Amino acid sequence: MSRWGFVGRTDELNRLLSAVTSAEGRGLFFSGNAGIGKSRLLREGVAALPRDGYAVWSIAASATTAALPFGGLVQVLPTEQPQGLSPAGILRWAVDVLQQQAAGRRIVLAVDDAHLLDPPSAALVHLVARADNATVIGTSRDGEQLPLPIRALWTDGLVDHVELKPLPPAETTRLLSEILNGPVDATSADRLGRLSEGNPLLLRELVFAADRGELTRTYGIWKWTGRLELAPNLTDLIDIRIGQLTSGVRGVVELVAFGEPLGLHLLNQAADPVDVETAEERGLIAVEHDDRRANVRLAHPLYGEVMRRRCPVSRTRRLQARLAELLELVGKRRRDDLLRVAVWRLDSGTAQDPALLLDAAGQAFARYDVPLATRLARAALDAGGGFDAAELLATILMFADRPDEAIEVLDAVAADIEGERRLSRWLTVRGMVSYWGLSRQSTVEEIAARGSTLRDSADQARVLAFEGIMRLHRLDTGIALRLGQTVLDRPAASVAARELARSTIAHLQAAQGQLHRSATAIHQVQAEAGRWRADMPYLQLALELARGTRLALAGDLAGIDAIVADEFADLAGAGDFRLGTGYLAILQAYAARLRGQSDAALRTSLGACAVLATSRVYAGLAQAERAQAAALRGDAAQAAEAMAEADRTHAPGMVVLYPWLEQARGAVLAAGGDVSGAVKHLTGLADRLRADGFAGHEVHVLHDLVRLDQATAPLGPTCSDGSRRTVAQRLAELSERVDGVLPPLLARHARAAAGGSADELLAVADGFDALDLAVYAAEATATALDRLRRQRSPAAAAARERLAALLGRCDLIRTPALQAGSPALSEREWQVARLAADGVTSRAIAERLYLSARTVENHLQRIYGKLGVAGRAELRAALQAIPGHDGGENG
Ligand SMILES: Nc1ncnc2c1ncn2[C@@H]1O[C@H](COP(=O)(O)OP(=O)(O)OP(=O)(O)O)[C@@H](O)[C@H]1O
Ligand SMILES: [Mg+2]
Repeated sequence: MSRWGFVGRTDELNRLLSAVTSAEGRGLFFSGNAGIGKSRLLREGVAALPRDGYAVWSIAASATTAALPFGGLVQVLPTEQPQGLSPAGILRWAVDVLQQQAAGRRIVLAVDDAHLLDPPSAALVHLVARADNATVIGTSRDGEQLPLPIRALWTDGLVDHVELKPLPPAETTRLLSEILNGPVDATSADRLGRLSEGNPLLLRELVFAADRGELTRTYGIWKWTGRLELAPNLTDLIDIRIGQLTSGVRGVVELVAFGEPLGLHLLNQAADPVDVETAEERGLIAVEHDDRRANVRLAHPLYGEVMRRRCPVSRTRRLQARLAELLELVGKRRRDDLLRVAVWRLDSGTAQDPALLLDAAGQAFARYDVPLATRLARAALDAGGGFDAAELLATILMFADRPDEAIEVLDAVAADIEGERRLSRWLTVRGMVSYWGLSRQSTVEEIAARGSTLRDSADQARVLAFEGIMRLHRLDTGIALRLGQTVLDRPAASVAARELARSTIAHLQAAQGQLHRSATAIHQVQAEAGRWRADMPYLQLALELARGTRLALAGDLAGIDAIVADEFADLAGAGDFRLGTGYLAILQAYAARLRGQSDAALRTSLGACAVLATSRVYAGLAQAERAQAAALRGDAAQAAEAMAEADRTHAPGMVVLYPWLEQARGAVLAAGGDVSGAVKHLTGLADRLRADGFAGHEVHVLHDLVRLDQATAPLGPTCSDGSRRTVAQRLAELSERVDGVLPPLLARHARAAAGGSADELLAVADGFDALDLAVYAAEATATALDRLRRQRSPAAAAARERLAALLGRCDLIRTPALQAGSPALSEREWQVARLAADGVTSRAIAERLYLSARTVENHLQRIYGKLGVAGRAELRAALQAIPGHDGGENG
């Protein structure tokens, strides 16, 4: 691309090469100032790579590609993207494509200007970097905002990250001779070198900016007599140079600035080929050849920045309209051409073709670029796109959590819906927005009434499927189930209607404890995704809620990990699908909480609350999970505050989620010290769940009662013999009805707590531990330890060690069950105990605390008694087994 040789940078180049080729190499990113030489270094590095065994792709992001989803990877991905993929599905597809094309070779992705990557491209680059057989190298400019998945490359340790420094003076001099193609006299080289401060681009622009007469060549040696004392700003220099171009050449640079990468043949049609050549000769644009075509780009991104800034709005619009026209004229060929044309039309105010805009909106939405899809769909509607445009726009707005606007859009086209097929679609989209987006309870009756007037069986089925899921959400479970069955039994029902009905049933089955059947149904819905996604994209949310409910109720933490990883939930910013990512974050927090990772639980649930703050769908659930996380840490104030937020934000239309909220309320009461209030509340909740048939939830609530030492408490209705069942009995009963490995374990815990041996409790703890349920494991162990201590059993020491080990794996956790068994030491006793555990002698302790040695001895005896230990040797382990204290200085 450059007409002069590459100078210096030997170490950097070697480092880049070994990042790719050495066994322990793990990718490398250079950052640095504009013009410092990052792109050139990367190019030289890629050119020097061995070709054998490596599949190398170079990606150059730019301001124009940044506006398009996957714009940054346009030259890498195939033209056609398969239909009906989730955000994660698209990313997976793209990775698979690269893997296939690499055909066993090592993948090398070279990403220039990574700060300009569009979100999905950035997510994809991150994913590729995670693959075992891939290395990512690249550049980013200092001071620019980086997409999160790119920054995560080095914060996650997937690549190294170094700052590219200015060229040293000797190399700057060599570069100057390269640029001028001949030796330069020492003083000139020194002055120019100092002015450029080792920035190659600045050096080059200074040379270009030199007036005739300022740069002269005598006897083959260049001399510079410019009078500058301070270097002008780099952009100013470029600005001046661009200002001096002829209008023809400037026109070429402008087109490339707004349209890069542009096909060379297209540019030659739009401008005089002589001007194109001149622009190339002056080093303003560069022509690159890939296997398919010749592409024109700016020689340096700063030219584009300057050019676009100079261009008045009216001219920018004219240029964009011209680019759109040209691309339409030569025919859209590349995968992004349709989107590019549509965006240019939009930006230039010449968007008049509703079909084009609607198509493009669909494409943007299929790539989960919600903001772009929204703009395009709205333009399609404004251009007269009618119901189809309104439906797509409303759907996108709902995904983007903007229900009020969605309703407005739908109501505006209500009067001119033609045909029953469209009417059934209108009813369902509007119903969805009205029920979940606006929390209008009456939606259910409205949709049912209007749906019954439809004559076609498929149209009816669509509406019935929606009525069914709404009924489930407001706890008309019987009707929901019946409607779901009706839809499944209708041969005419569309795939989307059928799978929506199946999701409804799967969710209900999970709540009822039929976890196996629920799993089968969910699997089926997922397998059909390719056939429903385009027709009913929001079905994804129903599927996720059903799946998440099942995994959480099953205590299947590994399953939760798997879907979080599978959906790349941590690649924040890949698309704008807030309800989806927010819900996954809730699940993630739940898994962290049951593992005792209370820091992560709190952090992740806070993240979920932030993402879902404006949503009427999951905001309450997110706050309830935060309340649980805070309660687990014993932070009663935050727990209460989060619970109040949960109550404030929870939508009445999501009442199906009440078990989660009410369970959280129990934990919050207990954390606040009101254990009897918590017991009363949870007992009432267990009754309600039994009445609702939600056995899947009921086992968890009963277990919460066990954790509050209520295994033998009576609950439920009075039996024929006049007695009432205990919590433990009810759990035993349910463990036969609720699927999975967890319920029998919970029941066993209850039995052991109700009067079993300490050994039995320890066995239960092992069972919990095997499922990674560290909090429950620690609590069962703590109860066992308490019993052993009271019995003065020698087995206490081993139990204490196990508890300490379990607590050591957790972050700070304080629950009533852990607290109950743990001895209460006074402040003074803590001081003495810690010092003694650290091996400080009684005399030294006495001196340090200004006490008599005798008093210290008395304290120690009392401490041994409270902790149930024989002497100093066991003290440290005993302190570590006290939750919330690590036994050390800061315990
Ligand atoms: N070591 C070098 N040898 C020869 N030429 C160089 C060298 N480093 C940079 N250049 C030239 O200097 C100019 C600016 O470098 P480059 O485009 O790599 O800068 P950059 O750091 O990528 O800037 P930006 O952040 O704006 O993208 C280019 O014309 C490039 O060819
Ligand atoms: Mg660059």
